[in-house]
Amino acid sequence: MSIFDDMAHTWDDKPDREERTRVVAARLREVLDFDGVEAGLEYGCGTGQLSFALADVLPHCLLVDTSLEMLKAAERGIAERALPWDTEWRNLAAQATDHPDDITDVLFCLQVLHHVDDLKTTVENMARALRPGGQVALMDLPKGSSGFHHGPGHDHADNPHLDGLDKEELEQLLRGAGFGDIAWHDNIELERETDDGKVPYSLFLVTARI
Ligand SMILES: C[S@@+](CC[C@H](N)C(=O)[O-])C[C@H]1O[C@@H](n2cnc3c(N)ncnc32)[C@H](O)[C@@H]1O
Repeated sequence: MSIFDDMAHTWDDKPDREERTRVVAARLREVLDFDGVEAGLEYGCGTGQLSFALADVLPHCLLVDTSLEMLKAAERGIAERALPWDTEWRNLAAQATDHPDDITDVLFCLQVLHHVDDLKTTVENMARALRPGGQVALMDLPKGSSGFHHGPGHDHADNPHLDGLDKEELEQLLRGAGFGDIAWHDNIELERETDDGKVPYSLFLVTARI
């Protein structure tokens, strides 16, 4: 069981997450070109909130996560909306030989990469998963976001980038995997509910094409 299996049952109950989904989906509509997109892929989909907010521009979407409980929630969401979508239990940094090629036109990932240790393999897998000309959008905590995770529940070992990602390092990984048209957009400014009230935080948003 991962920390996210425990959180899956109440993940969708938090209004600040709903608001984040609304804001992020609106930004993705601005920065990605959904014309002609047939298939999407969300890595670290959680309960699927973000993909569901984009369902009208994603004829098909594959929702991928390492948490089975999150995926069960995502499957319920797919069924409720009667979407012809799929889920897959997968680690982003799975061995490259195991990773499918050319399966999507657009790939996005919200607040997931800071939980992944092998970012190089992950970014290479993103490049493999995208069809030629495909677009990626990554949204995550920038390095220095040390206040975001706290408490014993966050002592899990699979999050070496817990304080956020180094943008230069990420850009180098994107270039190394063959991505071009790399664009850093304005940060996404959000608020989250904590025991001490509402706390502001920022996510970077980078897009690129393969
Ligand atoms: C902070 S949650 C974000 C969930 C969702 N993107 C959202 O914004 O609501 C991080 C998600 O990434 C998943 N995750 C963590 N490490 C992963 C990995 N290596 N591969 C795939 N998914 C992973 C977790 O199970 C969890 O659902």
